[in-house]
Amino acid sequence: MRIILLGPPGAGKGTQAKLVSEKYSIPHISTGDIFRKNISEKTPLGVKAKGYIDKGLLVPDELTIDIVKDRLAKDDCISGFLLDGFPRTVKQAEALEDFLRNDNQTVDTALLIDVPSEFILERMTGRRVCPSCGASYHMKFNPPKIEGKCDDCGNDVIQRKDDTEETVKDRIDVYEKQTQPLADYYKAKDQLFVVDGTQSIGDVFKTISEHIGSRK
Ligand code: AP5
Ligand code: MG
Ligand code: ZN
Repeated sequence: MRIILLGPPGAGKGTQAKLVSEKYSIPHISTGDIFRKNISEKTPLGVKAKGYIDKGLLVPDELTIDIVKDRLAKDDCISGFLLDGFPRTVKQAEALEDFLRNDNQTVDTALLIDVPSEFILERMTGRRVCPSCGASYHMKFNPPKIEGKCDDCGNDVIQRKDDTEETVKDRIDVYEKQTQPLADYYKAKDQLFVVDGTQSIGDVFKTISEHIGSRK
């Protein structure tokens, strides 16, 4: 399965991606996680990306598209992948389509996790993430089993720098202007599936799993 996850900041893309990638044994590729790893390692890409991410802006397509192409060319993507947070612009979606077409492939489904903006701020400010494995928690909705520690690897969980109220508002704005048009893009190709992201984490996953099961 070649799956794309769309949705506003805090929709639960990372949370669901982890569950889906474990269930279907496909790699979870998050452009946000790739950028954050590069930022923490202070690579040239990380230095360039940081300025945009800290402001809640998109990293330019020229920097983003090639990273994803390189990642999708790796062997573990042969039988499928789950893209979390890419594409985010129509240009990125077209580049992905061209790339897959070279191998006679297409996206199987674009899952849009739909969450109205009034839910987002509470999700973002309560979020804690594991800097080591990328797992995402919420102090109220999905706390780690041991306070402050990642369930999977035991590292200290931290708050993301772009999860402040001010930056979250900018990220929602950017989402509405630049990424929301992708819903129509995938709808026109009959690839869009919208799931109500205000349900519990378990119910969102159940809906997504049923949909994936029906496409296999
Ligand atoms: P990215 O890391 O992708 O951030 P995002 O899209 O803003 O999404 P988030 O990771 O904030 O939210 P999520 O949907 O993964 O939610 P989560 O599962 O954590 O990108 C960061 C930045 O990188 C961008 O702003 C941009 O600058 C750059 N970037 C990345 N990709 C790019 C691209 N392709 N092009 C250009 N620039 C790019 O859940 C959120 C919280 O809610 C958690 O605490 C979780 O526990 C909780 N939660 C999840 N589901 C539920 C539920 N059902 N009920 C209650 N709580 C829930
Ligand atoms: Mg995420
Ligand atoms: Zn971890």
